[in-house]
Amino acid sequence: MSSTGSDQQLVEEARVAFNAASDPASLENAKARFLGKSGLITEQLKMLGGLEPELKKREGARINVLKSQVESLLNERREALAQQQLAAKLAQDRLDISLPGRGMARGSLHPVMTTWQRIESIFRSMGFDVADGPEVETDWTNFTALNNPENHPARSMQDTFYLDLRDTDGLPLLLRTHTSPMQVRYARSHKPPLRVIAPGRTYRVDSDATHSPMFHQVEGLWLGEQVSFADLKGLYYEFLCAFFETKDLDIRFRPSFFPFTEPSAEVDMRFATGPLKGRWLEISGAGQVHPKVIQNFGFDPQEVIGFAFGSGLERLTMLRYGIDDLRLFFENDLRFLRQFA
Ligand code: PHE
Repeated sequence: MSSTGSDQQLVEEARVAFNAASDPASLENAKARFLGKSGLITEQLKMLGGLEPELKKREGARINVLKSQVESLLNERREALAQQQLAAKLAQDRLDISLPGRGMARGSLHPVMTTWQRIESIFRSMGFDVADGPEVETDWTNFTALNNPENHPARSMQDTFYLDLRDTDGLPLLLRTHTSPMQVRYARSHKPPLRVIAPGRTYRVDSDATHSPMFHQVEGLWLGEQVSFADLKGLYYEFLCAFFETKDLDIRFRPSFFPFTEPSAEVDMRFATGPLKGRWLEISGAGQVHPKVIQNFGFDPQEVIGFAFGSGLERLTMLRYGIDDLRLFFENDLRFLRQFA
């Protein structure tokens, strides 16, 4: 049997072996030599069985002390190796807090959306409601109710996007060609006097520097007992002054034709100062709502009159910022868009 002296040696040997292990796997190997199934300490324990009770007791106690010394050396080394690994990992993953952060790119509204919002707030301030409606329309709402004759060119396939779906009249649904159907929808669900604008997307088979197949309009409708063309002029002038933030502009009404208004007009404006000074620019269609249309709203044209207008949001935006090509709005070139951020 081993003496305490050689026990010391064994403990020393274990310390050297454990310290030599530089990673957890080799430490487990080193452990096997002492504490494994046929390790040096395990072998000693196995021999206890054949000893006298007195000796067995003493030897048992000695081997237990030996065993726990080796075990605590093993645990120390395990702990040290784990610490080393953690330190290495921390060093590797170290954050360099002196690097500039990635940050969040800041978005902004599209200029046409800014125009949309400005128009809403200006008309709200003048007592108008703001309404929204479908972009897929029925033939009746987009054309018939607005007094468009059966063979009006706007109904042709060349001008209008039709869907392969039919409405309850058996007519194909279509992408609205203007926001005017919103006059019909709003008037049929409200009682005069009423004042509303309806901004939104509209669609026509058209594409060049000044036309896009999708564009935006804002419809305006004011109905009451005594709403005249003079009110239209006054209101529209006030709107333009607010929108362009200047009183330095002129406005004129040119006779025109729309099936749903009578009389009808094109509204032109020009800046009295600035780079665009002097040129008349067409900005809106407008007119007194046609008696037949008032009837289609469900009102008596003897009692209810009023006016409507429909203006292009791209057009207003181009004027406000001096943009000369409509296509810029839809190309999503950030160099263009950032100028409005
Ligand atoms: N809807 C007409 C267009 O798109 C504009 C308009 C609206 C004209 C309201 C008169 C009254 O051209």
